[in-house]
Amino acid sequence: VSKVGILDILQAKKESRKLIMVTAYDYPFGLMADEAGVDMVLVGDSLGMVVLGLDSTVQVTLEMMIHHIKAVVRGCKRPVVVGDMPFMTYNTGIRDAIINAGRLMKEGGCDAVKLEGGSNFAPVVEAIVKAGIPVQGHVGLTPQTAGALGGFKMQGKDAAAARKIIDDAKALATAGAFSIVVEAVPAPLGRLIAESVAVPVIGIGAGVDVDGQVLVTHDMVGLFDRFVPKFVKQYTSIRPTIIEAIKTYGDEVRSSEFPTSYHSFGMSDDALEELKS
Ligand code: KIV
Ligand code: NA
Repeated sequence: VSKVGILDILQAKKESRKLIMVTAYDYPFGLMADEAGVDMVLVGDSLGMVVLGLDSTVQVTLEMMIHHIKAVVRGCKRPVVVGDMPFMTYNTGIRDAIINAGRLMKEGGCDAVKLEGGSNFAPVVEAIVKAGIPVQGHVGLTPQTAGALGGFKMQGKDAAAARKIIDDAKALATAGAFSIVVEAVPAPLGRLIAESVAVPVIGIGAGVDVDGQVLVTHDMVGLFDRFVPKFVKQYTSIRPTIIEAIKTYGDEVRSSEFPTSYHSFGMSDDALEELKS
């Protein structure tokens, strides 16, 4: 299998081929996403919420990201692996942003980084790209600053707010972002954003007329269902399956049905006799 490259991602839009991205936070999910044939795997800072049990992405650190990116990268031979830059690792200046993006790539081993923000962050994106690190933008609902946006809700409702998001996407594309995630905007706005930039627009709650889609895998397979946003489709629900398996295991342990001889190691009669004598 040949590795997907950044140029393949750009080419997909020219060929009107939809791009598939999912999140992964560890080795088994990296392997499964790879085997399923996705184009990009995002080690999202959603890590904090769906894997580490934090109540927002704000508390996620660069060290946590590096730790998890390493595991995902080991499982991903083909897809582009994108590592999220945590809150306050790119917000404190261009120099910090380059150093921290560099750590995600050098220590974590990802192929690209993603950061949240619009035109205000265009100079940061430009500097990281110039340093040799591909950057994916993220506009619309930006969870790291959801508080300032008035919570986890749709963005770009009125014309002025929508215009601002289009301008943000354009500024990121001009700054050299190789693609842009657009989260939680009206579908018609998603389409307009995709038409406004040459780089692929990856939607999550941005309607169907964008260049690709991303979902949080743990939402999509029903592994995390404490909160399910409108834009999530649950393709399966594995939580009950896992809970049932653990319960059955517990029942069988209590009743001594498990382990059977099949799951136990034997010992030669000679050795056993000698042991007992
Ligand atoms: O952290 C994440 O999973 C994300 C996606 C929702 C795009 O940023
Ligand atoms: Na994220």
